[in-house]
Amino acid sequence: MDGEIMLSRFSTQLVRWGSSSARHRSTATAAAPSLKLTPDQIYAREDKYGAHNYHPLPVALAKGKGVFLWDVEGKRYFDFLSAYSAVNQGHCHPKIVQALQDQAETLCLTSRAFYNDQLGEYEEYVTKLCGFDKLLPMNTGVEGGETACKLARKWGYNVKGVPKNQAKIIVAEGNFWGRTLAACSSSTDPDCYEGFGPFIPGFEIIPYSDLNALEVSILKDKWRKEEE
Ligand SMILES: Cc1ncc(COP(=O)(O)O)c(C=O)c1O
Repeated sequence: MDGEIMLSRFSTQLVRWGSSSARHRSTATAAAPSLKLTPDQIYAREDKYGAHNYHPLPVALAKGKGVFLWDVEGKRYFDFLSAYSAVNQGHCHPKIVQALQDQAETLCLTSRAFYNDQLGEYEEYVTKLCGFDKLLPMNTGVEGGETACKLARKWGYNVKGVPKNQAKIIVAEGNFWGRTLAACSSSTDPDCYEGFGPFIPGFEIIPYSDLNALEVSILKDKWRKEEE
């Protein structure tokens, strides 16, 4: 893979959890948008004007096509990260770009106060494709986790008969699923939760890959009740 670099989820996580990357290397530059910035200037600008909720790898991307990405200096990369699967279809496929443009020129946005002629078609297609009854589209990954927590709790109350407001969600140490309050509340990473308490109750944290701990966590409430 001469002159090419793999972007992978693994390397991103190393940077997220490791020491800070190129964030403090150079000073921010108030360049006009039309000026071509160096990678260091791009990192510094994001560092200065953007919230520090992620610590990206020091790669400044400018273009994508299919499986490839190019940085601002023209270096080509294989994109094995694919935005954590959000662009598994590849970058800038002409059919998808055309569909985006056609729809944007027709109708960009409707609130959920109304029906529109696209949402139901998409929901029907995806539920039939995946073999599920219903679909709730999300904008971000963390909303998926939030919704999973809500669904699990409601199912626990309505179907399983868990007493009201006593549902417990068991998570593994070292998890990362986003930066909402529920995600911070179930995290063991101070970088995620420090400064954001009080936290949402109802999460129990066990060691990763520890089946005994999982069993105890599931059964201990039952044992406690039996003793009472
Ligand atoms: C494993 C994992 N889950 C969830 C998320 C959150 O996704 P989003 O930023 O789209 O909410 C991320 C984001 O980096 C992630 O790496």
